[in-house]
Amino acid sequence: MKGLILSGGKGSRLYPLTFTNAKQLIPVANKPVLFRVIECIRDAGIIDIGIVIGDTAPKIKQAVGTGDRWGVNITYIQQDQPLGLAHAVKVSQDFLGDDRFVMFLGDNVIEGGISPLIAEFADSNWNSQIVLTRIEHPEQYGVAELNDDGSIKQLIEKPKEPPSDLALVGIYMFDHHVFKAVQAIRPSWRGELEITDAIQWLVDNHYGVHPYIHEGWWIDTGRPNDMLEANDLVLEEIEYDVEGYVDRDSQVGRRVRVERGAEIINSVVRGPSIIGENARIVNSYIGPFTSIDHDVVVENSEVEHSMVLENSRIQDIGTRIQDSLIGRNSVITKSPIKPKALKLTLGDNSNIGIL
Ligand code: DAU
Repeated sequence: MKGLILSGGKGSRLYPLTFTNAKQLIPVANKPVLFRVIECIRDAGIIDIGIVIGDTAPKIKQAVGTGDRWGVNITYIQQDQPLGLAHAVKVSQDFLGDDRFVMFLGDNVIEGGISPLIAEFADSNWNSQIVLTRIEHPEQYGVAELNDDGSIKQLIEKPKEPPSDLALVGIYMFDHHVFKAVQAIRPSWRGELEITDAIQWLVDNHYGVHPYIHEGWWIDTGRPNDMLEANDLVLEEIEYDVEGYVDRDSQVGRRVRVERGAEIINSVVRGPSIIGENARIVNSYIGPFTSIDHDVVVENSEVEHSMVLENSRIQDIGTRIQDSLIGRNSVITKSPIKPKALKLTLGDNSNIGIL
């Protein structure tokens, strides 16, 4: 089997974080979502992986490289415009050939991996397998309606009135018949060739599409709240591991990871939390559910339930920073310059809550 990861698109829902980076490269618990996807596919025994790339191609290529770091072979497939998930399948036909494959959206994170699913599909005579999960707001996703015998009745993309609470997770398995389907369908109201419509075509034309219902957690990190939520869920799995330096005046909780070269000086770190490589935490409090990325400095400050991305600096802040997503190379400091006022340099579409 082969793997296909979709990592094109614009990521406009995550502005301003994605003005300078691809959304799939935003780290969850200090590891880019895309790297988690690659590992998930590799762990299922697949080593030939195609990655569909768009405008952010240089960033993705630079971060991922050839794949040898994970022991996989990566082939990049350029998609000139984000014309839909089924369009991404179309442009990948040469790479996929007649092999069965798993397609994984590059911004999805799922609990527990996909090895059993892949094995089940590889040994079956199904033409496709889709993954469904029950969620509260299915209208933001593709939604499936099942028949009484558990087979698929219909699939609809982002319906205003969802016929069920079963959302399509961004993991799909296909054989080569999907190419017939993506040729046959037409663009949707949002101008995209929808993979949901392609799967509906397979169902309507009596191909075997097996719905699998996933019981663990699943997150589409394409929205800012989901990013923090995804971070919380992944941090839940963190175990105590201190490779960096913790001085005698500091307290580090049970579910904290302190990566290589990091320093914790006269500080309290409550888990689950992760402190990235070469980060420095000095006279500070890091609360539960916080990811401090590599080379971040936090000094005389308090941060809780937040993500602070690489190379940022938080210094001498009297108020606790909470529920926050702080982009790369950000600086938050106390300014001695009068008048006493908030002085902000924010990217477009930033979101700040002030008491
Ligand atoms: O996350 C699950 C949902 O993903 C499903 O429930 C929906 O049925 C499915 O259509 C999709 O919905 P989204 O609107 O969330 O998809 P999005 O545009 O965010 O794209 C998902 C990934 O695919 C993202 O990593 C970008 C990439 N992509 C997207 C498009 C439209 C491409 O590589 N090429 C594209 O043309």
